[in-house]
Amino acid sequence: MRAEFTGEVLDDDTLMRILDAAHRAPSVGNSQPWDFIVVRDPDTLTRFAAHVADKRVEFGESLPPERARTFEPIKIEGITESGTGIVVTHDDSRGGPHILGRATVPETGLYSTILAIQNLWLAATAEGVGVGWVSFYDAPFLTELIDLPPGIRPVAWLCVGAVHEFQETPDLERFGWRERRPLREAVHWEKFAPDSSV
Ligand SMILES: Cc1cc2nc3c(=O)[nH]c(=O)nc-3n(C[C@H](O)[C@H](O)[C@H](O)COP(=O)(O)O)c2cc1C
Repeated sequence: MRAEFTGEVLDDDTLMRILDAAHRAPSVGNSQPWDFIVVRDPDTLTRFAAHVADKRVEFGESLPPERARTFEPIKIEGITESGTGIVVTHDDSRGGPHILGRATVPETGLYSTILAIQNLWLAATAEGVGVGWVSFYDAPFLTELIDLPPGIRPVAWLCVGAVHEFQETPDLERFGWRERRPLREAVHWEKFAPDSSV
């Protein structure tokens, strides 16, 4: 969701239902390492949008000319239009040093926070509410913007709000940036060998 926000700010009951679904996500060792910072102050939204605009320019300039032309019309955020930003953060120290299930795969902590984001996204979609993930930012900028304490890592800025429609086809496909892979290319049988997909 980037261009479809109506500008109508989400009511708090709906917002809390969506956050409740996010907070019910499975997590390694039941550590629930996430937090949700709801940002609605127009000044904060505008400052974040300006930062993202700078990062967008930087990315555009890093592209070869043909890709830059394809990228140009693609909208990559709806920060001010959505009226609500939800910053999802990750605290790897939550639950102490003995997290059940994280000993051999340390990333499972971060995976858990990502699952909260997915739950949030699915719950919002079920409510007819749009979500867009913005990742064009420098983590130190966002950390300072919303006063994150040391050890709390920003994982996503989600634009959340009422939308006038849900696109059937991903924007990046519609604008010719990148096609979805067919499922049969992603499914492998027995081993990950090139000829093991269907
Ligand atoms: C980790 C992650 C970061 C993303 N960052 C951005 C972003 O900065 N700007 C944007 O417009 N979309 C962003 N997206 C959305 C993807 O572009 C989008 O999910 C993808 O194009 C597929 O489209 P669909 O979600 O409509 O199926 C992000 C998605 C993920 C999962």
